Amino acid sequence: MGFEIRTVREEPSSTMAGLFSAYAAMKPTFDAKMADLFESIEDGIAKTNDLGKLPLWADYKKLKDYGRPIGDNPKRKMADVRTKADYCQFYAWLADVLQPEAILEFGAAFGASGMYWLAGLGQRQSGTLYSFEPNPVWHPIAEQNFNAISDRHLLTLGTFEDNLDVIKPKVQISLIDAIHTRSFVDKQFELVRSVSAPGALVLFDDIHFSPDMKECWQHHARNPEFPGVWTLGSRVGVVELPKD
Ligand SMILES: C[S@@+](CC[C@H](N)C(=O)[O-])C[C@H]1O[C@@H](n2cnc3c(N)ncnc32)[C@H](O)[C@@H]1O
Repeated sequence: MGFEIRTVREEPSSTMAGLFSAYAAMKPTFDAKMADLFESIEDGIAKTNDLGKLPLWADYKKLKDYGRPIGDNPKRKMADVRTKADYCQFYAWLADVLQPEAILEFGAAFGASGMYWLAGLGQRQSGTLYSFEPNPVWHPIAEQNFNAISDRHLLTLGTFEDNLDVIKPKVQISLIDAIHTRSFVDKQFELVRSVSAPGALVLFDDIHFSPDMKECWQHHARNPEFPGVWTLGSRVGVVELPKD
């Protein structure tokens, strides 16, 4: 495993206490079927990456305080934006052990994290991934990548904020991986909470993207309402929502 799991807080009321250290202790080994699936996902990612750099969603150019330069004609290839394989494998494991009825992620980008969520859901043939991507060039590529793994998904062309009514069951796991600035993430987190089941996990990607994003994470991590708070390496923050 390429990242360290750190417990920031585990209250007695946490139902996820010990779960993440269990993953660290198991020095992840996956069965042969899952290992083959991971290999085919990575092959698919390599092929998508060969498409080269494709334009970012147009709204990135409107951002005033992104925290990093974007450029005049911003383009990215899949390898530039994807969640790395070690985190992706952790996500597949999480989906497998928690057996959620619904997982929510945004954005999909070219589909890396989504394919791994689907791999995890496929282990028990249950649950649906609700994913969102507003970039009309990247969305069909993600759709094709998702379909190569499973049909247990609803991938919407559009933002999460504008389309959250497509999510019908309460969500047990969410990944916020879109525009990494506090002004977006704070509002998105509130919306995520409104569609989440009691005790759900919410993952924040790129918590060290900028000083602003670091502040955003620290603010939520300190909230005593949450019975469990963890970090996965220096990249991802996880909170467990209260049971009631
Ligand atoms: C860092 S990438 C996501 C990477 C992806 N999760 C993966 O592992 O491959 C961020 C994506 O979020 C999308 N995005 C930005 N704002 C969004 C929003 N409000 N709702 C949904 N997606 C959004 C962007 O177009 C971009 O494709």
